[in-house]
Formats: sequence, C-alpha cells, structure tokens
Amino acid sequence: MQKNKFPKDFLWGGAVAANQCEGAWLEDGKLPNVTDVLVGIIRSGNNPSIKWNEEKQIWEMNLDPEKQYLSHDGIDFYHRFKEDLTLMSEMGFKAFRTSISWARIFPRGDEEEPNEKGLQFYDQMIDTMIDLGMEPVITLSHYETPLALIAEYGGWTNRKLIGFFEKYVRTVLTRYKGKVKYWLTFNEINNAFKIPFAAAGVVSFPPTNPDEPMADVDEKMIYQACHHMFVANSLAVKACREIDPEAHMGVMCSFSHIATYPENSDPENVVGTHLFKRKHYFYTDVMCRGHYPKYILNEWESKEIAPVMEQGDEETLAKYTNDYIAFSYYRSSVYSKNVEMKSDTGGAIGLSNPYLKESSPEPWKWPIDPVGFRLVCDELYDRYELPLFPVENGIGLKEDETDGMIEDPAREKYLRMHLEEMAKAIEDGCEILGYLWWGPIDIVSAGTGEMKKRYGFIYVDRFNDGTGDLHRSKKKSFEYYKRIIETNGEEI
Ligand code: BG6
Repeated sequence: MQKNKFPKDFLWGGAVAANQCEGAWLEDGKLPNVTDVLVGIIRSGNNPSIKWNEEKQIWEMNLDPEKQYLSHDGIDFYHRFKEDLTLMSEMGFKAFRTSISWARIFPRGDEEEPNEKGLQFYDQMIDTMIDLGMEPVITLSHYETPLALIAEYGGWTNRKLIGFFEKYVRTVLTRYKGKVKYWLTFNEINNAFKIPFAAAGVVSFPPTNPDEPMADVDEKMIYQACHHMFVANSLAVKACREIDPEAHMGVMCSFSHIATYPENSDPENVVGTHLFKRKHYFYTDVMCRGHYPKYILNEWESKEIAPVMEQGDEETLAKYTNDYIAFSYYRSSVYSKNVEMKSDTGGAIGLSNPYLKESSPEPWKWPIDPVGFRLVCDELYDRYELPLFPVENGIGLKEDETDGMIEDPAREKYLRMHLEEMAKAIEDGCEILGYLWWGPIDIVSAGTGEMKKRYGFIYVDRFNDGTGDLHRSKKKSFEYYKRIIETNGEEI
C-alpha cells in the first residue's frame, strides 16, 4: 500500500454538468440551450438540430423525431438532487462541481430580469451541498449558452453576448455570495475550434447555406467568438472581485491536450508537438497572463484573421486574470507530422502509443496514461504558477446490474493510478486544490449523448433507448473512493 501526502484541506469530490444530469429541460421557465439540440456534442458535430426560418430571419429548434435526446431528461437530478448529493456526502465528498444552467436563469439570455424559479432551484441545490459539508464548485457555462442567443444573435461572434453573460454572472454571484467560493467560467473553452457550436456558440449568421448550418464557420469567426469570451471571462473575474472578494474565479480547459507526445525524436515531430500544445495553451496564456501572445498576433496578421477589438478590451484582459486553473484530464495522445490530429471530449487523438497497454473499453478505447496526468500538472504549474484544480478525471465503462452489485475494479485501478501520479505532482511542487472525479454518478455522455458510457461510483438505471426506472445503486468502487477520502489519500 502506497503512502501519499495530500494537503490537509484537499477538496476531494466529483463533478457533473447541469445539461448531462438535470433533465427537466423545459421546466420552470427554462428554455433550450446549445446542448439541448445535440445528441452528443461530438456525435452531432457541427450539425445541431436547428433550421433557418427565412421569414423570421432566425435559427429555430428542429428536433429530429428519430433521435433520442437523452439529456432532456438526464438522470432527473433536477428532482432527485437531494438523494444524489446525500450519496455523495456518504462517500465523504468535500466538494461537488456542477454547472448552473444559464437558460434556467435567463431563459433566452437577453431578458431584463432573471427567472426566479430557476434561481430558487439553485438556492436549494447549493444549500443542500453546504448542509452536507460540500464546497460547491460552480461552472457558469458548461456548453450551455442559451439557444436564443445563438439563434437570434449569432452566438459569441456577437459582442452583445458579453453583456448578457456579465448580467447573468453578476446575478448568480450576488445571489450566492458567501456560499460559492469556487467558480469557473467556460467549460473547456479550448475546444472552440473542434466543437464551435457547443464550446463557443458559433453558428454562421446569417447563413449562406441553411442546410449545412456550420458550413460557413471559419477561423476568423471562432477567434472573434473567443475574443468576446475572453473579455466576458475577465468581466466575470472583475465581478467576482467586486461582489465576493473571498471567492475565486477559475478558467476551465480540456488539458488532456497538453499530454501530447512526439512520435519520436525527429525534430519536426518535437516542434510539431510543441506547436500543437501551444494551440491549447493559447487560452490560458490569454486568460491567466492577460495578453495575446506574440505567436497568435503573428498568425492573425499573416492570415488576416485578427478579431475586432474595442478600446479598453486589452486593458480588461490585462487587469482581470483568473485566480486558478481548472482542467479535465482523461488520456494522452501522440503527435506525428504525418497524421492530422483530431480530438473529442477526452482530448487529442493522434497515433496510438505503443507504451500504453491499457485503455477504456470499445468503442471508446481511450488510452489510460496516469503519468500524463503528472506531466500536465507540472507543465501547467511551471508555466503559470497558479493553483491547479483537476475537476474532471475518470473512465467510462459498460456496466449492468443483472448480476447484483456492479464490481468495477477497472475504475478503482484508474483512480488509484491517477491519484498516485497526482501525489507525485504535488511532490514536484504543484499547488493542487483538490481532485474531482468526473461523473461520480452515471450521467448522459457529453460526447456521444448516451447512457451506456458510465463513469459513476453510483449506478443509475437508465439506458440508451430511454428506458429504465432511474433507481440509484452503489457500485463496489463507492466504498473504495470513500476510504480514500477518509484517509485523505494516504490509503489508495
Ligand atoms: C469533458 C466534458 O470533455 O469530458 C464533460 O467537460 C464530458 O462534459 C467528459 O462528459 C467526458 O466525455 P464523455 O464524452 O465521455 O461524456
């Protein structure tokens, strides 16, 4: 048994996102957001279920009756959060991350007044966490831009979204002042290029080809959306300092991308890897260092794609940088100059790595690489010297309850190996605030929109075809994680 040292107030816990668990997608005044028109953000790609209304000159929701939008009912967390959070507290959770669904608070996104019913739901949820001894960690938008802001305004390419977001942020910061200490702005903002619709709310507007909603999206539009999101992120930091100076406003990136290795020592592969990683560091370079780096200014100039900025934007970015870096880590990838890098919700995809023998099951097959986790922590801390918060790490497995309690040694092993490497990163000098397992209760997959891919220590009876009675039961790993938390990670 390995002895590891974790800080005294280490925030052990788990993380979910509103759109993957709450369900109740149109309840109590909520209107659709981007994920509501997708069956998995990777599977649906850049073809959301929306269509152009020529008469009104807006995009409209156009759900496909043949498709299962499992996220619409999720795991019914909206009505069962007390039961679920109680189970989390049984495991000893010190922190629980979820998102506030923006479209519950401002259903269209551009209203003058917030939706009180939406706020009341989060009042109860946040109070329940606090009563159970858990620190709420709240994402402001986990791929959850209200659909009306995309359909009628063209999404984050439109500068008006900065103001709408700021208003929403100020509303929830004021409401939860003194209750929520850890906030995150945009989930995995560095996926803007891979999944512009979900990550950056980008849609071509007005469309030139309504049958292919994203056909006209180009790099310039995405950088423009990113610029607006960066300013909005800084204004969220500003609002946090003004409204609740005790609270912390973090960034959130998919940093499996940082664990990208060159195929070999060919200098072209090494430099190619560096340039690939820098495409992802770009986001934290701006939000944590407070300025656009020279490498991006050069790229914009040579391609003539610089975003439009207003006077004062650069000062805002410089003045209000984030307090900590939150990130997801699932796996690593291998770069080769001969292969085009792809990515999905787990991170980058390049060549397969002959040194990694294990992976998650078919069809996902995400390679398991705990050492990459240490590398990501070290690189981030060396580069920014800001507290780190791994807020997503986990493994999706296929499981069913037919033989009684689910035994999940593969999950326990994945957890153990990653915690051991995180302990080494702490030993290396990284300041790490806590560790949040992704999906401590089974939820709808973000990438593929299915239930079959289960991350939980807690099973939920719901299936890909939408059947299931939604009952919850503990898997074997429930006790394992509980023991880890009890011993503050000394007994892994
Ligand atoms: C991250 C997302 O990219 O990966 C989560 O922030 C997501 O929302 C997680 O669920 C795992 O991906 P997937 O596709 O297995 O659900």
